[in-house]
Amino acid sequence: MAAHGNGPGMGVATRGRLLFGGDYNPEQWPPETWHDDVRLMKDAGVNLATVGVFSWATLEPRPGARDFGWLDRVLELLHEAGIGVCLATPTASPPPWMGSRHPETLPRDENGTVVWYGSRNQFCPSSPVYRDYARRIAEDLARRYGGHPALRLWHIGNEYCTSCWCDETARHFRAWLRERYATLAALNEAWGTAFWSQRYDSWEEIIPPRRAQYLINPAQALDFRRFSSDALLECFVAERDVVAAHSPGTPVTTNFMPLFAGQDGWRWAAEEDVVSVDVYPDPAAAPDDPAGPAHGALVQDLTRSQARGPWMLMEQAASAVNFRPVNRPKPEGLMRQWSLQAVARGADAVCFFQWRASRQGSEKFHSAMLPHAGEHSRTFRQVRDLGAELGALSGVAGTRVEADIAVLHDWDAWWASGQPGRPSAALDYPAVLAAWHQALWEQSLTADFAHPEARLAGYRMVVVPQLYLLTDAALDGLDAYVRGGGTLVCGFFTGVADADDRVREGGVDARLRRLLGIARVHEWWPLAEGETLRLTDGSAASVWSEDLEPADATETVAAYAEGPLAGRPAITRATPGEGTAWYVSTLPERPTLRALLAQAARGAGVAPVLPGLAPGVEAVRRGAFLFLLNHRREQVTIPLQHPHTDLLTGHTHADGITLGRYGVAVLSASTNRTTPTTTPTSKVSRICDGGEPSP
Ligand code: GAL
Repeated sequence: MAAHGNGPGMGVATRGRLLFGGDYNPEQWPPETWHDDVRLMKDAGVNLATVGVFSWATLEPRPGARDFGWLDRVLELLHEAGIGVCLATPTASPPPWMGSRHPETLPRDENGTVVWYGSRNQFCPSSPVYRDYARRIAEDLARRYGGHPALRLWHIGNEYCTSCWCDETARHFRAWLRERYATLAALNEAWGTAFWSQRYDSWEEIIPPRRAQYLINPAQALDFRRFSSDALLECFVAERDVVAAHSPGTPVTTNFMPLFAGQDGWRWAAEEDVVSVDVYPDPAAAPDDPAGPAHGALVQDLTRSQARGPWMLMEQAASAVNFRPVNRPKPEGLMRQWSLQAVARGADAVCFFQWRASRQGSEKFHSAMLPHAGEHSRTFRQVRDLGAELGALSGVAGTRVEADIAVLHDWDAWWASGQPGRPSAALDYPAVLAAWHQALWEQSLTADFAHPEARLAGYRMVVVPQLYLLTDAALDGLDAYVRGGGTLVCGFFTGVADADDRVREGGVDARLRRLLGIARVHEWWPLAEGETLRLTDGSAASVWSEDLEPADATETVAAYAEGPLAGRPAITRATPGEGTAWYVSTLPERPTLRALLAQAARGAGVAPVLPGLAPGVEAVRRGAFLFLLNHRREQVTIPLQHPHTDLLTGHTHADGITLGRYGVAVLSASTNRTTPTTTPTSKVSRICDGGEPSP
């Protein structure tokens, strides 16, 4: 797993440029348009075009046929213009002939209903027929273009997300379970099948968790999430290996959806050379709305952590999207700001969906770098300006964002805690994770994400927003980390279940209770949706509360001030070994969570990037550069301790800098505009040198 090994994007010294470009779908346009595309790409400073993501039916119009002529010409045109190519295998969207001739390749939902073609992503990940066609088209592409001088990167599929419950999936699921448990007895034990007469007597009886009369066995459902992620991962790995065989040294990626439940992002990232993600925050969100820049920051921090270094923003919108009920454009300056936010938080590539706006199809009202309004539009002007600015930031490429704080996040825990039959259906794992991350982000406390079993020794503070399921290895790791002098801030309903979703002895793992100074959690006491509870520090909390019994030496930082738990501890602090362990048994409102994390960080010796910033001002250090972003509606002046030069303007600011709405500065203490003072180490930025990345 990425959390345990050397992650991708590590250890390749380079002098790069930031990548800039987007999905390019020339098959939607007549060849005359391609010349115009290339002219305008050059004009905009584009250096990477992602080609072929959805071109399967064009490349293989009928089974086994090949039409590569158009792609030959497109790659040549791009190459002549000095634009690198991120070549996609087209396997996210099989042509209609596949579903029509091989209906068994079409996925079925939990009810057994077929998911038809006519959209995209209609394949069963377990289907040998789909896999075979996918491998063959990937192999032929790789044979033909694996040595093409424009090729910089392989892009496998697109946003792997399909799940299936068909009979082929059932067979595959059983094979996966045999691998995991070896014996039926072990499976029956892990799934707790003594409950409700669910004992399996033969492997053949086991099916995916299809629609049933009442609640499904939760361990079965958890394993099916794991299996579904792994089944998709097998599809990725098979194509990755095929293209790698024909173009050794060319890195391979696949684009993640932001904080997506369908893929175990730690396991997936470990299989990629370069980690990439698609992010679409809501431009209509207010600056402090979790759906706005805070969402961007969370996804960027997570992707950087999966990559263990620089990463790619593979897709974002130049302006409006078309998938929200009401789709507002990005006001002037916002696209630039969110692009630079990604660079600030470790991206070496700023790319878009898509280059030219489609005139037909389901996404014709999705914005693009080159919109329907053409090259004289507001959007294209901003795209061109951004291209020029990214050129001025080439010294940033390959540099790293360092964090003293790790936020623990795990797909297993997410999957397990999201199932029905829990104390509260209102408990929303990603929302809790986002609330905690936002409280750090709002005060420029830079955080990585980490797998719960990751090595934590390099972090001064570890934050666990809510991890219902924790393995023994993770619990031992946390224990050693805190006793060795670390600071842990641990949120509610954590350490409750083991890897099989079996409730731990005593309700919460004993190691964790000892660490937190909690003698017992008598009962979970979830709050109704929208309900809040006052705490004794005058603040309010929501979502959850717990009937806690602290150990004698444990300090109660705040107690519940009302309701059935009035007078009982809500937030506690203990000092096991050399360390400090906070327990937060509810979800405090944002200012309280901020204050609590600030206090814990101070105690751990972690300082914000800049102290005392106005709300809505983001500060991140990347290598030797200080990025400042103003998310407020009004302008803001940020004091500086000593003179800095803004790489974007070339101006030197002696003791402060003023940023307008959506303003960004990239400050360097040095007056040299492009020379980085740290050694860049990014496989991503190597891509735009056209150099061979090392394995
Ligand atoms: C992404 C996808 C693109 C496009 C985009 C629209 O999820 O990869 O193909 O659909 O969304 O926002």
